[in-house]
Amino acid sequence: MLTRLLRSLLLHLSRQVWLKDWLADLPGFRQVTRRFIAGETIAEAVSAIRALNQLGIHATLDHLGESTTSPPQAVADVEEYLRVLRAIEESGIDSNISIKLTQLGLDIDESFCLENTRRLVAEAHRRTIFVRIDMEDSSKTEATLRIFTTLFREFGNVGIVLQSALYRTEQDLAGVLALGARVRLCKGAYHEPETVAFPEKADVDRRYLELMRKLLDSGVYHALATHDEALIVATRQAAAERGLSSDRYEFQMLYGVRRDLQQRLVGEGCRVRVYVPYGRFWYPYFMRRLAERPANLWFILRQLFRP
Ligand code: FDA
Repeated sequence: MLTRLLRSLLLHLSRQVWLKDWLADLPGFRQVTRRFIAGETIAEAVSAIRALNQLGIHATLDHLGESTTSPPQAVADVEEYLRVLRAIEESGIDSNISIKLTQLGLDIDESFCLENTRRLVAEAHRRTIFVRIDMEDSSKTEATLRIFTTLFREFGNVGIVLQSALYRTEQDLAGVLALGARVRLCKGAYHEPETVAFPEKADVDRRYLELMRKLLDSGVYHALATHDEALIVATRQAAAERGLSSDRYEFQMLYGVRRDLQQRLVGEGCRVRVYVPYGRFWYPYFMRRLAERPANLWFILRQLFRP
């Protein structure tokens, strides 16, 4: 009960961007964010990915940003992603990219966002780099799926994220599988009303298992994004029952979360990809990570007030 309250509070605070400046001024806070964020520059992200690659871990690179209301900012973020794509190719790191459509102007105008995203996906296609479109809160699901479908049909090098927390996902999954596209399945990181999402974690987990089985049955290469060991064990078992070898799907986890598990899975022959965020707009991402595991708060307080 207390955890659930804390989670709701942290998710509420994740939308209060004014808090960022206050937090960022706390001595030692930047160090604390480094647990989940690879740095502020492309060079820092590339070097974090190199270290992961050396451990046998693949990556997906995320330039932090979301909920942009300024058209020049959205265009500047497209330019930054174009530099990211060049850096991936030139450095030779094993990484694709993850993007958020509200960073590229979805809250401004859908066709503006489509044009921005098209520019980015076309360049990634030219460089044979895969683009994953993250899924944001449920008010964005419909438009995100529309843009994804358009670009998937045009270029093919695009995948989508679906959230087991939402009631609608079963239907969305059928549509995405009919396209033959790649899915990253996650539980869902946003605070959603009971009218659109399961309020109970047990239902979210149960739905995750059902959707995971559909993904494995589809014959397409999908990603199972979770740190939940029970779901990981169940996925491996379901894959084995279907005779699918471990190179037919991948697990995905977040930078700085369950590094022990990431390495253990690689050691056991699984494919693991880590989501590596970098940039200055870290606040909402960071707060969602705290909400997922409020115990992280104590870790942070310990770091900040360590003698
Ligand atoms: P759950 O929350 O039940 O956690 C299981 C266990 O994992 C915990 O007991 C703890 O040990 C560990 N753990 C989980 N989160 C932790 C944290 N922050 N710090 C420390 N330990 C933690 N969501 C979304 O809505 N849209 C998206 O596009 C994405 N994209 C995405 C990409 C990738 C690669 C991942 C791994 C996750 C996402 N998510 C996401 C987030 C996802 O929806 C979900 O909020 C988190 O993965 C946490 O859920 P788990 O499946 O890990 O289970």
